Amino acid sequence: MSARAVILDCDPGQDDAVAIFLALASPRELEVLAITTVAGNVPLARTEANARRVVEAAGADVPVHAGCHRPLLRPLETAKQVHGETGLDGSGLPPPERPLAPGHAVDAIIERVMARPAGSVTLVPTGPLTNIAMALLKEPELAGRLEGIVLMGGAIGLGNVTPAAEFNFHVDPHAAEIVFASGVPITMFPLDVTHKVLVTPTRLERIDALATPAARAVAGMLDFYRRHGRTGGAEHGPLHDPCTIAWLLAPELFSGRHCHVAIETMSPLGMGRSYVDWWQSSGRPANALVMQEADAEGFFDLLVERLARL
Ligand code: RIB
Ligand code: CA
Repeated sequence: MSARAVILDCDPGQDDAVAIFLALASPRELEVLAITTVAGNVPLARTEANARRVVEAAGADVPVHAGCHRPLLRPLETAKQVHGETGLDGSGLPPPERPLAPGHAVDAIIERVMARPAGSVTLVPTGPLTNIAMALLKEPELAGRLEGIVLMGGAIGLGNVTPAAEFNFHVDPHAAEIVFASGVPITMFPLDVTHKVLVTPTRLERIDALATPAARAVAGMLDFYRRHGRTGGAEHGPLHDPCTIAWLLAPELFSGRHCHVAIETMSPLGMGRSYVDWWQSSGRPANALVMQEADAEGFFDLLVERLARL
């Protein structure tokens, strides 16, 4: 099997960083064409630098592009209380040495997808969906050319940043609405499944015991994150974003069902809520494969095995 071509769109953030490490540690399965960054957990100036820090720590040569510095319509809300001032607190990684790749992230996504055969590129967004929505609006042919979108965001049940909404969808609900109305095949990892993939002390020790520079950075980030990232009532820090990559590598680790998903863009209290029609009561056609179950031990076995390769 040839490697699947992917573009990671992210807002590092410790959990985004682990997703990048996992993807870059899996070149037989994933060809990372580019990493595009968006404002979210921390402002864009931080997320783009953090993505470059992680790529360099992984010893990879993957272009990093900066994208949108704010949501489509709403003001930017960040999550520094979870990720720290830098967004990568605990990593111990040095500032990036290599420059950003030229060109805006939205153009980078369009150019790489349109330059390849139809159905050969998968987008993997793990932050607010601003760049993805802009790319879909700017290039009318993009939706029909994509293999799919594998994203972390939303919730079947309770939110984490508000009682109703998960952070990525809450920050840019209008972008999420555009993505879920695009017709692109979507695989969605909501809080209900990511909260089953928790950074327990034992799992953290397994990563730290690898004693490589990348593993030490991950262990440091997750130690910070498990003390600050226990949002949404999680007993330990949930490893949200790497679930997307783990599914691409080992789909048997997760299960869910095809549902219609709609996004709240009007209610101030419910802004960004994902209405997941889990019981198919709306009669609307499914527009996403929504994951709900995870084999957490299998996930961490995969993560440890791949981190050991860096
Ligand atoms: O709600 C969790 C999501 O918001 C994760 O992607 C985390 O990195 C933040 O972006
Ligand atoms: Ca993220």
